[in-house]
Amino acid sequence: MKRDANLSRLTIIAAAALGALVAGAALAQGGHGELVVNAPEGEVSEAEGLAAWERVHAVVSHARCVNCHVGEDNVPIWSGPSYGETRPHGMNINAGVSRIGIEYLPCSTCHATATTPNLDAHAAPHAGHPWMLAPVEFQWNGRTGPEICRQLRDPARNGERDGAALVEHVVHDAEAHAFITWAFVPGGGREAPPGTMQDHLDDMVIWTAAGMPCPDE
Ligand code: HEC
Ligand code: HEC
Repeated sequence: MKRDANLSRLTIIAAAALGALVAGAALAQGGHGELVVNAPEGEVSEAEGLAAWERVHAVVSHARCVNCHVGEDNVPIWSGPSYGETRPHGMNINAGVSRIGIEYLPCSTCHATATTPNLDAHAAPHAGHPWMLAPVEFQWNGRTGPEICRQLRDPARNGERDGAALVEHVVHDAEAHAFITWAFVPGGGREAPPGTMQDHLDDMVIWTAAGMPCPDE
């Protein structure tokens, strides 16, 4: 699973995985049609890495991400402009320790596992991966930028990933039309994180190539 980020150049034709109809819908909204792992040319300085981290932070701290990257109460969050005030997920939803809701009401009851988007306002979003909270050790909600940064580079708290595997996670997400892919084209009047998914991938490549530097505080 290891790939040398300096040598690889990988093109994902998302259209092949998604089918022309979905890809067309995603493209019409400025979504990804194609993700490319652009290897950085030459050495990446720490300053460039820190600048890339600031852009990564603007994404990972966005409502579209933190609403699922929540703490040990196992309660997803409804936040972001389309929700008005920030509050716990309506309907008393609790994901349980399973993070997928099997103890109560499975997330997939409403959040269908489908690459076709659910674009109506206030409808339950779909994704190509079964809908669920992120594991509790990936909690970002309520944490500062430097805290999230140190957590993201710590294999004990990032799913045992090195830099290359973190980059690969974004690529795999696009292939599966999973949660990051959904977040950049969320539909239903929801706000997307800043930039495009390709920008986010480029920033992850730069940050990891620089050795994953984190701001002090
Ligand atoms: C009874 C139906 C239902 C179930 C079950 C359900 N959801 Fe939802 N969920 C919704 C609806 C509807 C919305 C969108 C609400 C809106 O846009 O006003 C939503 C939105 C969300 C959001 C916010 C997405 C965003 O806009 O950033 C998250 C996160 C979420 N659900 C997580 C979960 C998780 C995790 C589970 C399982 C533990 C779950 N949901 C179970 C109906 C459900
Ligand atoms: C529907 C809930 C959901 C949403 C929304 C979501 N994630 Fe996640 N995320 C998960 C789950 C589940 C995992 C664990 C899967 C894995 O490790 O392969 C995960 C794992 C991750 C990981 C790897 C673990 C880590 O913390 O290092 C990263 C990075 C990540 N998500 C980034 C994002 C970003 C960026 C966004 C927003 C653009 C986002 N996620 C939105 C559920 C979500």
